[in-house]
Amino acid sequence: MKILVTGGAGYIGSHTCLALLDAGYEVAVVDNLSNSKEESLKRVQGLTGKTLEFHKVDLLDKRSLNAVFEKSSIDAVIHFAGLKAVGESVSIPLRYYHNNVTGTLNLCDVMGDHDVRTMVFSSSATVYGDPQTVPIKEDSPLSPANPYGRSKLMIEEILQDLHRSEAGWNIALLRYFNPVGAHSSGLIGEDPNGVPNNLLPFITQVAVGKLSELSIFGNDYPTPDGTGIRDYIHVVDLALGHIKALRILASNPGIVVYNLGAGRGYSVLEMVSGFEKTTGQKIHSKIVARRPGDIASCYADVSRAQRELGWSSERGIDEICADAWRWQSKNPDGYE
Ligand code: NAD
Ligand code: WQD
Repeated sequence: MKILVTGGAGYIGSHTCLALLDAGYEVAVVDNLSNSKEESLKRVQGLTGKTLEFHKVDLLDKRSLNAVFEKSSIDAVIHFAGLKAVGESVSIPLRYYHNNVTGTLNLCDVMGDHDVRTMVFSSSATVYGDPQTVPIKEDSPLSPANPYGRSKLMIEEILQDLHRSEAGWNIALLRYFNPVGAHSSGLIGEDPNGVPNNLLPFITQVAVGKLSELSIFGNDYPTPDGTGIRDYIHVVDLALGHIKALRILASNPGIVVYNLGAGRGYSVLEMVSGFEKTTGQKIHSKIVARRPGDIASCYADVSRAQRELGWSSERGIDEICADAWRWQSKNPDGYE
């Protein structure tokens, strides 16, 4: 069975390509390399001892995308390709809507033309916005607070409409919480452009000496230690969730929605002290004002994924910190 992975050279995509090859799938990747390097895929092939097809193609280029489907016999698609920086989406919203929404429309058109109707889509916990209660269930109100999040919700709704309109579409909408960590080899991991927006890459870059100190965005939230609480999920566990999703779509056709998280929250201070304890690295930090748009607490109810997919996260905070640090310390400049 051959899986087309859009955005497969990226952070979550590269870990998922590795999991797919290990599980015996054939893999074709489409990526425009706008936020990734082909080196990640070379390392995936080295780690698995298997080869994959790589097509440097932009989803906005429908003709080239079509050519990939003409050449390769694709059975299903895992769709990661998209822009993901929340702050950037506020300043250049049209680029986000065009890339994420139009890219997905092109992909669905080309899939339909080639009779490929199985898709696993990367959605995000950001579709819930500021939750009224935690843990968050899949049927909680959806209220994204920025253009990035709204692009994810629009795509979810488009895929729901597509499934309603035409029999045969099998779609899994996977809402990831906070993906972190790296493969245990230290050969693939997260390689953000410029100064990281997210907590864990920021911490590892302070530890490796690329950044001088961590700014902790607020200690006056209504949480036990005053800092924000999130649900950090190891990227390898997340990757394995995609394989479970492909299997459920094969055995139970339809459209399904799952939260993929660890199902418990950690505060910023807990993450910093957990990282220090596991790695022995001191993280210099200071408390600064809240980051606009941040929420106090966000973590998943993962009981549906446990029950229906037979999936749950196995790697805890110690493994997350150890693996993130192994990747950063072995590759201080990422894939460069
Ligand atoms: P990433 O930026 O590392 O990977 C996305 C990949 O898509 C990149 O390799 C990029 O080059 C490619 N891409 C972007 N636009 C493209 C286009 N038009 N055509 C072809 N390729 C294109 O990001 P990631 O962290 O691996 O995230 C993967 C997916 O998961 C994204 O859709 C993201 O929105 C979603 N997601 C990520 C997180 C997170 O915190 N990392 C959380 C929830 C959801
Ligand atoms: C985590 C916690 C910060 C950086 C974002 C997107 C979301 C999703 C995942 C894609 C918060 C605090 C952070 C720093 C800090 N992506 N923090 N200092 O904001 O939960 O989610 O990534 O779908 O859409 O919004 O993740 O890692 O940025 O922040 O104190 O330098 O760490 O305030 O409490 P977030 P994050």
